[in-house]
Amino acid sequence: SDPVPFYGEHQAGIVTPAQDRLHFVSFDVTTDKKAELAELLQEWTAAAARMTQGQEAGAFGAVGGEPEAPPDDTGEALGLPASGLTLTVGFGGSLFDDRFGLASRRPAALADLPHLPGDALLPEISGGDLCVQACAHDPQVAVHAIRNLARIGFGRVSVRWSQLGFGRTSSTSRAQATPRNLMGFKDGTANLKLEDVALLREQLWVGPDDGSGWMTGGSYLVTRKIRMLVETWDRAPLAEQEQIFGRDKGEGAPLGGKAEFDVIDFDAKGPDGEALIKDDAHVRLAHPSHNGGARLLRRGYNYVDGSDGLGRLDAGLFFIAYQRDPHRQFVAVQRSLAGKDSLNEYIKHVSSGLFACPPGVRDAGDYWGRALF
Ligand code: HEM
Repeated sequence: SDPVPFYGEHQAGIVTPAQDRLHFVSFDVTTDKKAELAELLQEWTAAAARMTQGQEAGAFGAVGGEPEAPPDDTGEALGLPASGLTLTVGFGGSLFDDRFGLASRRPAALADLPHLPGDALLPEISGGDLCVQACAHDPQVAVHAIRNLARIGFGRVSVRWSQLGFGRTSSTSRAQATPRNLMGFKDGTANLKLEDVALLREQLWVGPDDGSGWMTGGSYLVTRKIRMLVETWDRAPLAEQEQIFGRDKGEGAPLGGKAEFDVIDFDAKGPDGEALIKDDAHVRLAHPSHNGGARLLRRGYNYVDGSDGLGRLDAGLFFIAYQRDPHRQFVAVQRSLAGKDSLNEYIKHVSSGLFACPPGVRDAGDYWGRALF
């Protein structure tokens, strides 16, 4: 596949048609010097501009440099194409503490997420000062990119946590078929898509009047690692599974409809006069009509981190959502779901992240987050 352009008004990896693979990483900044942080972001931007175009991370590459020096690329992507690689950077709220004198630049929208009912969050796999989302069609290419950014960051950042995802659970373009999550359901049907230009302006991209000028053209990223209790789920009857989501498992059609993209009729009744889509169905509670019009651009991935030592798969959804205001959007939707969603019996939120993703890098003279320095 052709390389995805790196430069532009918005960062790639948000409305870019969701690639098949993910390597997501969160870093803690270990230097307390603002100039070193700015330098790191410049070096990362230059390496990202290269790697997303299928080139090695540095100009000498894995084997072209001095034999006495460590190579400026680790080598495992030699001979592989760009594979649709995108690298998307985000800044966590903790970056705006006293260390770098950035406190006054922290957007109101980047206020910490509140505790939500049912949260079982582990701090060691949550939060972080910086994040990078690498998406590609080849897992080796995504891992190579993150590994080289971590290598470049040595002495200035350390990896806090990271997550691999092996299958997209969403589509972000009408040209893509809807994939399935690990519960076997089509996921991403009612997602925001890159073709919805007016809605994206309203719901996805930060506007010039939103309060933090440096974020104009950017977007806020919420990550949630959501463990699925797959063994319990696999014992639930099909009809119950379909009622939980409010869609059928084969087509992904809303209950009462026939085809995947049929408009959801929340008033549809079965022969017994009962609503086909129950009050506690996921699509009813997550729908914009239930949440003050809030929508999300979902871009999550399936994960399996082996097994848990108790004979169960350690599996689930690494949920990723982009939006213009996480408090008005993600928090509103998750509040609806947290108290009531019939899906809750089968899932557990174990990690959380909120990051401000700045606008795109304009050209080779620009870098990620330049407006902050
Ligand atoms: C819709 C699965 C968690 C927000 C859906 C659909 C499925 C699904 C199968 C229907 C197809 C579609 O329209 O995409 C899951 C699973 C989850 C999960 C398995 C957890 C493991 C969440 C969370 C949020 C969320 C945490 C946000 C807080 C939405 C939204 C829709 C949706 C906004 C579209 C509703 C509509 O407008 O019809 N989800 N979801 N989901 N989900 Fe989730």
